[in-house]
Amino acid sequence: MQTKIAPSILSADFSVMGEAVKKLGLAGADMIHCDVMDGSFVEPITFGGQMVKNIRPLTDLKLDVHLMIEHPKTQIKFFADAGADVITVHYGACNKISPDYLRETLELIKSYGVACGAVVNPDVPVEKIFPVFEMCDLVLLMSVFPGYGGQKFIPEVMDKIRKAREYAVKIGRPEMDIEIDGGVTTENAAAIRAAGANVLVAGSAVFGAPDMRAAINKIKG
Ligand code: DX5
Ligand code: ZN
Repeated sequence: MQTKIAPSILSADFSVMGEAVKKLGLAGADMIHCDVMDGSFVEPITFGGQMVKNIRPLTDLKLDVHLMIEHPKTQIKFFADAGADVITVHYGACNKISPDYLRETLELIKSYGVACGAVVNPDVPVEKIFPVFEMCDLVLLMSVFPGYGGQKFIPEVMDKIRKAREYAVKIGRPEMDIEIDGGVTTENAAAIRAAGANVLVAGSAVFGAPDMRAAINKIKG
């Protein structure tokens, strides 16, 4: 399976975001990971739909919108209209509203013709999202607690990657996108790929690298 890299623009200089996005395309990125934070589900506030809308015309790459927000259902329209290709929502944010909220939100995303995905934090068993695997285009396993770039990869997540891939195979979706987010580096990417992840998010490892293209190639393997 081809590995895809989704550099996170959270690590970019927000004052020159357009340039950063164009540079990522030239350096071989496959998707652009957009970390949306609301100051409530996670401490920081980053950006909303307007950012997605503004970078949309600057790249042909898929825009992978990771919503780290409360009440995600209320925001789907804005990100879909802005041109998101994939929208992912947190199990934790949804489940505290109601047991059906995650499924309903994924359905809402799909109703806009946008690919959808469920996210679990490092301390949540991946089995919690098995009931929605079939409706997900992608599942995202956090390998750090959401909120900040530049954290260390939590090694216990490796086992969850294997479980997620096994389950994808079991339901007849062997090629399903399994995305890892947080602490991905040129050093640990090979092991993450070997465990069964095929979409790797990387913020600091890409933006902090002296040679962005070389870092991207190494992470993709
Ligand atoms: C964390 C974000 C991640 C993270 C990635 O809340 O969802 O996308 O910033 O950054 P690095 O690769 O630096 O861990
Ligand atoms: Zn993210």
